Amino acid sequence: MSLSLKTLHDMESSQIFNQHLISYSVLIFLPVLLATSQIIPPTKHGFSLNLIDPLSPLSPFFNPNLTDTERFNRILKSDRGRLRYLTSLNAGTTNFPIDPTEIQPGLSSHDLSYMVMTGIGTGAAFQNYYLHLDTGSSLTWIQCEPCHPCFQQQQPIFNPLNSPSYLSLMAFHPYCRSPDYQPGPNGLCHFSMFYADGTSANGILSSETFTFPSSQGGNIQVPNVVFGCTHLTDTDYPLGGPVGIFGLDLEQESFISQPSCAPVTGLRFSYCLVEPGSNIPMALRFGADITWPPVARVQQTQILRFSTGPKQYYVNLTGISIDDTSIYFAPGTFDRRPSGGGGFVLDSGSHFTYLPELAYRIVRNALVLHFQARHLMPLVPGGDEDVGLDLCYDLLPNVDPKDLLPSMTFHFAGADLPLFYEQVFHVDLHQQQFCLAMLPETDVRAPGILGAFQQVNTQFEFDTSNGGILRMATVDCAHGV
Ligand SMILES: *[C@@H]1O[C@H](CO)[C@@H](O)[C@H](O)[C@H]1NC(C)=O
Ligand SMILES: *[C@@H]1O[C@H](CO)[C@@H](O)[C@H](O)[C@H]1NC(C)=O
Repeated sequence: MSLSLKTLHDMESSQIFNQHLISYSVLIFLPVLLATSQIIPPTKHGFSLNLIDPLSPLSPFFNPNLTDTERFNRILKSDRGRLRYLTSLNAGTTNFPIDPTEIQPGLSSHDLSYMVMTGIGTGAAFQNYYLHLDTGSSLTWIQCEPCHPCFQQQQPIFNPLNSPSYLSLMAFHPYCRSPDYQPGPNGLCHFSMFYADGTSANGILSSETFTFPSSQGGNIQVPNVVFGCTHLTDTDYPLGGPVGIFGLDLEQESFISQPSCAPVTGLRFSYCLVEPGSNIPMALRFGADITWPPVARVQQTQILRFSTGPKQYYVNLTGISIDDTSIYFAPGTFDRRPSGGGGFVLDSGSHFTYLPELAYRIVRNALVLHFQARHLMPLVPGGDEDVGLDLCYDLLPNVDPKDLLPSMTFHFAGADLPLFYEQVFHVDLHQQQFCLAMLPETDVRAPGILGAFQQVNTQFEFDTSNGGILRMATVDCAHGV
């Protein structure tokens, strides 16, 4: 204990980089410290959490032993699982043939997504847990005692019996409605979350006090947050990773939609992603903590809501330009079909961007012509240097990527999202090659996805009030906000 207190003291005088590294390890092993530190009354109407990139050395779960190629392969596998998950929701089916070469595409498809830490419970039960930030799912959940069977986790499993603020919710609770929720024994509301690979998380809908370690210092305590106490999971989560999900989609039981959280969230959140794998800290901001750099040119587009299908962050993509040349797509190419399938969604749980196959072919052809005019031919897939992306080229040593690689703009109804070449191409200076960081999706039921790689250096604000608005502006996320 004394060692850790000293560490905390040293932290105050150290640089921000060290501060984050140390605080993560202290918080893992000494959650009690947080429980007793200063609580800020939630009158400020906003707070910020450290947003943790799983590929960053700042992540407590960062594995330094992986080679770049191994890490890259894991990202692509995780993306395939994620795509399958989003497709199952988009199409309203969990009936998918299982491809055994994919790593647990259900729950563990979140393995490489962004994380936040939140304190759950009060009294002896209090624990800080790392959770996957998921804008593609609704219910926040963790494993609770008794838990049979459950995946292994490093920290003690949450014990609701030891938390004076814990409540099980009854089947008549307004959030308790099919298909994910059913009345169970003792009149309680049971939930079953099924994933595309046939795995599931099952438990009791509950409410608890959540404590958020604000990145501004101190803690924000929010009582009566509805969450899932999971008593049965049939999946393997990697040991030492996050232990549950922090759900931020647009369903009523999502953290961002709950009235009990509205005083501190204002029903809106914001992030600004830095380049994946960097050691620059990021924040997930809520409510009044959301600010824009004075020079930012903020644009906005409507978040689309559908009567059927998942309540995720679908937006109206109307076109794409390469450099300043607009590409022609048939009208409705990116629209969601009434029968399910299609549409275009923002998803930080996906690393790369995915386009419907036809649209992808058009973008790909335009790029092939762009590079052909500069005497470059695509690398043959399956070669020695194949990283798993589709369109790759050798980068000649005397060429500066910024002179060769085009930018792109995604046009949404009311807002343009410019992507500099660093957000369009994966440039590997060691291998001296570059690849388009976008991929086709062959399943027509899949949504188009704007992944994290393309979201870098744009600040996004998801304002879920008034029907839903997505605000965006180009920002240097490493130095701004
Ligand atoms: C990395 O390798 C070292 C030495 O082989 C080992 O002790 C350590 O546990 C490994 N770390 C992870 C996260 O696998
Ligand atoms: C998308 O935007 C276009 C152009 O503003 C508009 O014509 C179309 O109706 C919109 N589609 C949806 C689904 O809102």
